Amino acid sequence: MIIGLVNPGAMGATIGAALVRSGHQVLWVSPGRSAATMARAGEAGLTAVDGLPELVEAAEGVISVCPPDAARQVAEDVLESGFEGTYVDANAVAPATARSLAARVGDRYVDGGIIGPPARRAGTTRLYLSGAGAAAVRDWFDEPVLGVSVVDVRPASASALKMCYAAYTKGTSALLLAIRALAEAEGVSDALLSEWDLSQRDLITRSEGAARGSAAKAWRFVGEMEEIAATFEAQDLPGGFHRAAADVYERMRQLKDVPDADLDRVIVELLRDAD
Ligand SMILES: NC(=O)c1ccc[n+]([C@@H]2O[C@H](COP(=O)([O-])OP(=O)(O)OC[C@H]3O[C@@H](n4cnc5c(N)ncnc54)[C@H](OP(=O)(O)O)[C@@H]3O)[C@@H](O)[C@H]2O)c1
Repeated sequence: MIIGLVNPGAMGATIGAALVRSGHQVLWVSPGRSAATMARAGEAGLTAVDGLPELVEAAEGVISVCPPDAARQVAEDVLESGFEGTYVDANAVAPATARSLAARVGDRYVDGGIIGPPARRAGTTRLYLSGAGAAAVRDWFDEPVLGVSVVDVRPASASALKMCYAAYTKGTSALLLAIRALAEAEGVSDALLSEWDLSQRDLITRSEGAARGSAAKAWRFVGEMEEIAATFEAQDLPGGFHRAAADVYERMRQLKDVPDADLDRVIVELLRDAD
């Protein structure tokens, strides 16, 4: 098959590579994208084209892997370019967003949610799919690295699963980072670490890991936390946890291009407004 990928980010490039290993040609639109995306696409063996119309003309399927708050626009751009094949949205969006994309795209829509780091080693990363066409998209993949499975035939179940999963992982990371900033602001960091060392030892390493793991990606997590908050609120559950998590990550937005930002640097960003 010829499959379009929008766009080869850290995760997207590895999904594209899995499709290439499965025997497909994977097209992506290079104009306007960064040098980092260009390099990842090259490493993954993807084929650059000059614009969406060219991609849409050739591809039988398109898979969207982009910042969650760009998911609607990407779908709109692909449809407006005349695409009539299978459209997979694999982004971290609320079920309501997935359902509105399904309504816009129609029967050719397949919902997706990715769990795990960029897929470089077998057993680390799973692409969950749902919707009437999910099983057919699962069959696009025929290689051992990326795990691909169907949740069910409803058009937003894969997104719902992703929201539940990330609500815990990214939500607790934001909470730990906010606590470390609060302890610093109150002058009790050493006392908190001593107490954690006695009673909650893993929180020391988890909070340090949360800083290293999220600093460069926090800008993208803002939209994802808002999608999670909307997911809770749509079921009449409190969305405030994840609205606050969005605020935490918003304060870290500047760290996108800071290499190796650690907990100390994250705390500076979180407390900046308090100065
Ligand atoms: N990375 C992970 O560990 C991970 C894990 C699970 C799920 N995911 C999901 O995968 C999706 C993308 O993640 P990623 O790691 O590939 O992100 P990423 O590394 O930040 O890459 C995003 C890609 O989208 C492009 N992009 C940026 N702004 C865009 C816009 N407004 N419209 C269209 N494309 C845009 C970027 O191009 P430029 O380089 O030109 O900016 C880049 O190629 C998200 O929905 C995320 O939730 C990622």
